[in-house]
Amino acid sequence: MQRYLDSPLSRRSAELILRLQTPEGAYPASPTFSAYAGYSWFRDGAFIADSMSVIGEIESASRFFDWCSRVLVDRVDHVRWIITQARSGRPPGHDQMLPARFTFAGHNGDDEWWDFQLDGYGTWLWAVVEHSRRHALDLDRWEPAISMTVEYLTTSWSRPCYDWWEEHSDHVHVSTLACVSAGLDAVLSSGVMEAGLVDAAREASSQIKATVFERGLSDGHLVKWLGSTALDGSLAAAIAPLGFVGARSIVGQRTIDQLERQLTVDGGTHRYLGDTFYGGGQWPLLSCFLGLAHAAAGDVSRARELYDWAASTANSDLELPEQVGGHLIAPGMRAEWVERWGSIATPLLWSHAMLLRLGAALDPRIPPHNLAARSGREEGAPR
Ligand code: BGC
Repeated sequence: MQRYLDSPLSRRSAELILRLQTPEGAYPASPTFSAYAGYSWFRDGAFIADSMSVIGEIESASRFFDWCSRVLVDRVDHVRWIITQARSGRPPGHDQMLPARFTFAGHNGDDEWWDFQLDGYGTWLWAVVEHSRRHALDLDRWEPAISMTVEYLTTSWSRPCYDWWEEHSDHVHVSTLACVSAGLDAVLSSGVMEAGLVDAAREASSQIKATVFERGLSDGHLVKWLGSTALDGSLAAAIAPLGFVGARSIVGQRTIDQLERQLTVDGGTHRYLGDTFYGGGQWPLLSCFLGLAHAAAGDVSRARELYDWAASTANSDLELPEQVGGHLIAPGMRAEWVERWGSIATPLLWSHAMLLRLGAALDPRIPPHNLAARSGREEGAPR
């Protein structure tokens, strides 16, 4: 049995993440990349913290959740205002909603960004609850921020917003909905929530599942946004680790099958057909999400192949990039992005985290309890 977490790349991945975590607890997306330097994203960070939690770096994950909690509690008046406005039928504009990323000190950035994204707020809820369950930690430490986030999401989940790739803000994205529903279900299962919020959270999560069932499927697989027929590499996360759809369900199986057929070449997974960012290359973190979905469905040998492909993208310093250019969807667009933002983000901490997360799923020493998402989450989910 291969001990994935002992490999030099795994050790390097954990070392990089721990070393680069800031004194405030934030995880930088990529320390030197022009457009990301100085910022921490709720999306990247929540998945990074989840990986650190799974491999036993408990304090690192807790410190990131403390950071999230501070970011939210510092904005309590603003978030209350958003919730009140949304409840009274006057939802605030995109630029008044919570941003996707913050400076390490927890401030909103000064640079223009595609900021209104809801997925990271669901993912942090999911990750913090899983962390507390896994390590028997008291959730009360994060409770005020958890309740605020639940209310923010129950009043805003149905709005179009930017997706995982910070694009297509006029659509409601299925992977965003999966993150929100997984977050709400995790909090519901934890029993930490204020009593008054429980019904609203349950109602929102079941409406999300019904909505995805009605408008988020095509040919039996999950789709990129409501009403579309296209796929997106991020949909693998809805299967694992989020458990929004069962890995062995028909929807789970068809989604895995189509992600393989349409978006994966030799183990490298693309974001979506039509991607032009740096020419639309293959993303190691997406191969790892797909590997996690396969592992959850019982296909360990395919999960290992995807792991090997992701690991093969490391450079000679054992740093993983955001994407590689061996197979491009839009080769003509690569140079334009290099000119605009410089060479591809490397190291990307989220790539390292997902390699660790898949490595943990394949490593015989990690107990299943550390990996499993709660099964209750699938109640009413598309099958
Ligand atoms: C990606 C986002 C990611 C961010 C920071 C962007 O290019 O589209 O998903 O959160 O980089 O890593």
